[in-house]
Amino acid sequence: MAGGLKALWALSVVLLVSNWQHWTYGKATPQVPCYFVFGDSLFDNGNNNYLTTPVKVNYLPYGVDFPLGATGRCSNGLNIADTIAEQLGFDSFITDFGVGGFTNFLDGVNYGSSGAGILDETGYLSRDLFTMNIQLYNHKITVSRIAKQLGGDDVAKKYLSKCIYVSDMGHNDYLNNYFLDTYNSSEIYTPDEYAQHLIKTYKTQLEDLYSTGARKIAVFGLIRVGCMPSNIQQYPNELDDSSCAYKLNDDVKIFNSLLQTMLEELNEKHKDAVFTYINSYDIDSDVTNAGFKHTRESCCQVLQSGAVPCQSLSIPCANRSEYVYWDGAHFTEAKAWAFGKRAFKRQLPKDAHPYDISELVKLELHDNDVNNVNLAQL
Ligand SMILES: *[C@@H]1O[C@H](CO)[C@@H](O)[C@H](O)[C@H]1NC(C)=O
Ligand SMILES: *[C@@H]1O[C@H](CO)[C@@H](O)[C@H](O)[C@H]1NC(C)=O
Repeated sequence: MAGGLKALWALSVVLLVSNWQHWTYGKATPQVPCYFVFGDSLFDNGNNNYLTTPVKVNYLPYGVDFPLGATGRCSNGLNIADTIAEQLGFDSFITDFGVGGFTNFLDGVNYGSSGAGILDETGYLSRDLFTMNIQLYNHKITVSRIAKQLGGDDVAKKYLSKCIYVSDMGHNDYLNNYFLDTYNSSEIYTPDEYAQHLIKTYKTQLEDLYSTGARKIAVFGLIRVGCMPSNIQQYPNELDDSSCAYKLNDDVKIFNSLLQTMLEELNEKHKDAVFTYINSYDIDSDVTNAGFKHTRESCCQVLQSGAVPCQSLSIPCANRSEYVYWDGAHFTEAKAWAFGKRAFKRQLPKDAHPYDISELVKLELHDNDVNNVNLAQL
């Protein structure tokens, strides 16, 4: 009994010391005070776990290479948003909004939600998700918590203006809306009109983000959705030379082009802020995929040809680093890193415009307009 207690006591000391080392020596100094993430399933770090929705992946083999197992990330390990958190120097993953958002919000919050889009109606058939508008609403709750914690609006505004904001939106407005027969948007809008409709809505949302004090905002364009294994399998007769469904890629390219123009307009209008374009389409290219053995099929087993999610408890491929795609639509951690590195520090000039994220971090912005920020609005 006494021996058992002694062992327990020794174990406690070991645990205390290792924890203490973690909190003191292990503490990295992030390059920015905080990092906020808006997005869809490429960025979601578990927010959908709080919802009654089938669109969540809190089961193995998701997370098979993640220290905490299946967290709701659509990956075997880290996603793109996580790789950027690490490159910014955060020593822990940014919390999701659901639980950590109550107590642990000063480093930033991830609001990403699988299935979410710019339009409220996107994904409504799978119901219950945090659309971009809801993510912005949740962010306003965080902003008021920060103001309370830091002791006032002025200090909060200063703090928030130094943070990095990323937004990855629009994939589902195509994949879970425009490309689906169950929605009528493709009957109502031509591809050009639809992209314009999305961009107009997105512009209002990014202005809304600006109004909460965001000043350094990286907006990710759309990846090559036509190269996702699920879409290659669904459109076998409409593949181009790179074996990708060209119609899908052509449609999202229109969005990307309009997005760049829209961000230039925002930069023109708000001289005290920078909206930078991350060229996801070109970053998601064969150049980035060059180190991978398998670029057009998923690592995990999906239910049937054309499906996206991994089958619960199925055995994934042995070497995840050889694959670009983890499931029918989402990247492996290896690809997330290859992608996230190029978004953080450009490899080619066109990867980011006007700045990559590492440059955005270092910018000294004039805060002449910061006083116009209205933190009280909710
Ligand atoms: C398209 O679908 C929406 C939602 O189901 C419906 O409200 C709308 O009337 C439809 N529009 C057309 C032109 O069919
Ligand atoms: C897994 O694949 C990567 C990339 O091709 C390679 O570098 C690594 O050696 C492989 N690991 C194993 C255990 O085969």
